[in-house]
Amino acid sequence: MGGLTYLDFLAKFGVGGAHPGGIQLTTDLLSNERITKDSIILDAGCGTGQTAAYIYQQYKAKVFGLEINPIMIEKAKNRFQTLQMPIQVIQGSIEKIPFEDHTFDFIICESVLAFVDKPAALKEFYRVLKKGGRLIANEMTINQKLSPQDEMEIKNFYALDSILLEEDWKRLLESTGFLKIKLKQKKFSVNNGNQGAEFNFSKNFEPELFEILNQHGHIVLKYQDILSYRIITCSKN
Ligand SMILES: C[S@@+](CC[C@H](N)C(=O)[O-])C[C@H]1O[C@@H](n2cnc3c(N)ncnc32)[C@H](O)[C@@H]1O
Repeated sequence: MGGLTYLDFLAKFGVGGAHPGGIQLTTDLLSNERITKDSIILDAGCGTGQTAAYIYQQYKAKVFGLEINPIMIEKAKNRFQTLQMPIQVIQGSIEKIPFEDHTFDFIICESVLAFVDKPAALKEFYRVLKKGGRLIANEMTINQKLSPQDEMEIKNFYALDSILLEEDWKRLLESTGFLKIKLKQKKFSVNNGNQGAEFNFSKNFEPELFEILNQHGHIVLKYQDILSYRIITCSKN
């Protein structure tokens, strides 16, 4: 595949709302939190910035986007400029967050933790949250243990170092220090799960990216009963 990954596909196709449930689920989750215009919020791994823009539009909160991929960053910045929204996008990794301790009231992280060193990123989330701050995440989770071959296929395709069961997430969040941990699986049908998905295509993209899209579809179908996601919410003490 010439070294191109699923995340390269998302960046070049400029997929907005690149998480299960899309922006509809995001708005639902946020409506359960006490967000005000004084809230300081990090969209960790913000992609093209659909969620960050929604948060600003809905709550007028102070929103920051953190993203590692330069193509995503450019697309997010363009979005905020076009919409004239005062949202800063910072280039960096959620494994080493370029913010001071106790900065944020909320961190929203939609389908990003799954792709990184999870213990390192969760430790960083804990560090940069204020006391009482909340983490809201939407992350890939398996419903049952995989055979070694199946696990390898999924890990190789998405370039993951691990795939967690619900109880693995719980243990990891607890050992990081988080409290009020809840893990939920919201139901939605495959057809109407992500009506708000958007595309912002790069001018040039490699034909192999269509092959990646194809393989993603194949994996989603093949593992439809096992490869799932959970909504994770928890608080810093
Ligand atoms: C599946 S996409 C989700 C994007 C966005 N949250 C959304 O829901 O549309 C995963 C995103 O995580 C970003 N990402 C991957 N590793 C990262 C890291 N270590 N730090 C920050 N962002 C990262 C990717 O570039 C990509 O934009």
